Amino acid sequence: MKILFIGDVFGEPGRLAIKKSLPGLRQELKLDFVIANVENAAHGKGVTPRMIEELQSYGVSAFTSGNHIWDQKEIIPYISRTKLLTRPANYSPDAPGQGSLLFEVYSGVKVAVINVEGQRFMPAMNDSLFRAVDREIDRWRGQADFYFVDIHAETTSEKRMLGWYLDGRVAAVIGTHTHVQTADEEILPKGTAF
Ligand SMILES: [Fe+2]
Ligand SMILES: [Fe+2]
Repeated sequence: MKILFIGDVFGEPGRLAIKKSLPGLRQELKLDFVIANVENAAHGKGVTPRMIEELQSYGVSAFTSGNHIWDQKEIIPYISRTKLLTRPANYSPDAPGQGSLLFEVYSGVKVAVINVEGQRFMPAMNDSLFRAVDREIDRWRGQADFYFVDIHAETTSEKRMLGWYLDGRVAAVIGTHTHVQTADEEILPKGTAF
C-alpha cells in the first residue's frame, strides 16, 4: 500500500501545485491514499470548506491541520460536522472538531488519521500530545487497520520523541508546521515510518 502525505499546503500556489501534480503522481506512484495538512491553504492562514472540496477533487482524501485552523471563521461550523478534516487532538475537549478520523483506503481497509500539536513554542495551551495520541489510538481500536499520525510542531525534538513513543504502534509519524524540507526520514526499529 502506498500513502502520500503532503505537508502544509500554502495558499494558492500550494493548491495550484497539487492541482497540477497530484493526478500524475497518483498514477506514476500508484498511490492508494493521499493525506494533506491544510492549515495554510487559505492565503497562508487557515482553510475554508470550499478549499477542502477543491483539494478533494484533485485526489486528496484526508485533511489535517494545526495552529492556523481557526483563522478562517467559516471553518468552525464546518469542522464540527466534517468527516474529512481533523484539528490537533490535544486542544481543549471543548474545541470544535476532532483530533482523529477514520477513513476507508479501499474496501475493507481503514486508516485512523491522528493529528497532534507540539507543546513547545506553540501559541496554544496544548495538553500532553502523548496522552492525546494514546486516547485517539484507543478510540479506533478494533476499527482501524492502521494509524497515521501528523505531529504539527515547532521542535524536531518533540517529533523525534513521538516517533520513538509510537514506534511499532502506528504506520507513520510525520511532522508538519515548520515549512522546511528535511532529509531525516527513516524506518524506526519496530517498523514505524518516521
Ligand atoms: Fe503551517
Ligand atoms: Fe502551523
